[in-house]
Amino acid sequence: MQTCGEIGVGGVSARTMAGSSDADDPIKRPPAEHGVWRPAKGMARNERVATSMTSSSDKLTAAIETSKTEMARFESAEFRKHWLGLTAESKDFLAQQLRVFGELLGAVTQSLAGWRILDVGCGDGRWLRRMVDYDACPEDVVGIDINDIRLQVGRAKNPLVRLLQTDGYRFPFEDEQFDLVTQFVCFSNIPTINLRKHTANEIARVLKQGGYIFWWDLFGATSPSDRGAPINPADYFHWTMQKIEIGRHPKPSQVLRSFPGCRFIGQFLDYLGYPPTHMAALIGPKR
Ligand SMILES: C[S@@+](CC[C@H](N)C(=O)[O-])C[C@H]1O[C@@H](n2cnc3c(N)ncnc32)[C@H](O)[C@@H]1O
Repeated sequence: MQTCGEIGVGGVSARTMAGSSDADDPIKRPPAEHGVWRPAKGMARNERVATSMTSSSDKLTAAIETSKTEMARFESAEFRKHWLGLTAESKDFLAQQLRVFGELLGAVTQSLAGWRILDVGCGDGRWLRRMVDYDACPEDVVGIDINDIRLQVGRAKNPLVRLLQTDGYRFPFEDEQFDLVTQFVCFSNIPTINLRKHTANEIARVLKQGGYIFWWDLFGATSPSDRGAPINPADYFHWTMQKIEIGRHPKPSQVLRSFPGCRFIGQFLDYLGYPPTHMAALIGPKR
């Protein structure tokens, strides 16, 4: 891993972005030829662009618009207090997230110093602030989200952590920029499988060879337009993957694992424990 540096953002350094004009702003530039935008062989350019615009990219754009509308449900004070406040549910799930993040990432590194990290669907960037607590340099972490309401809140909490609004289509970064890409409950909020696959391809594109993805999500989509569709990291990424199913509390066998002789009792008690609600996975290294 490198020491603190600059992340290449669509051909410019991320650090130069704050002072640049709209024309230089990679987020406001039209997407470069990539994925479905790449013209098929033997077609005139206009025809090629028109064809791809009316088929897959139009559907993706429509899904992104749906997603933006649906995200309003996370903005109520009640929702935020319940899931991100000091309630029992919020504390329990946060403890479980921290535990599993440490368990999975801790197997490959003991510090995030020098790691370049992207959080997709970052909300107010709460996870990026935690990455800084694990010694990542603030200038090496960046979050993207299609919704800018939480970004403003996050920037006020830590102005050093960059939070960018994206068009949801093309990530505003050059290829192979990040050592770690994270997603916390973003995929289950993306309203179509095609947009989820497209987002996964973008994640794979910006991840360095040898880099990792950390995944935390529900088992099924919560987007009102695709509710219940299965959400499984193995459908989107095909590198080595370590998956752990997580409930609201640690399994009894995890709590008892350091007591010799209690292993079997723990496994028995697991049947009585909290059922899993989320899947955590460490995916990679990218080959
Ligand atoms: C449930 S919130 C989770 C926010 C944050 N990860 C957290 O744990 O606090 C899901 C987030 O994903 C964002 N999102 C949904 N679809 C997205 C997409 N296609 N690209 C980027 N962000 C997206 C939403 O705007 C929302 O902020």
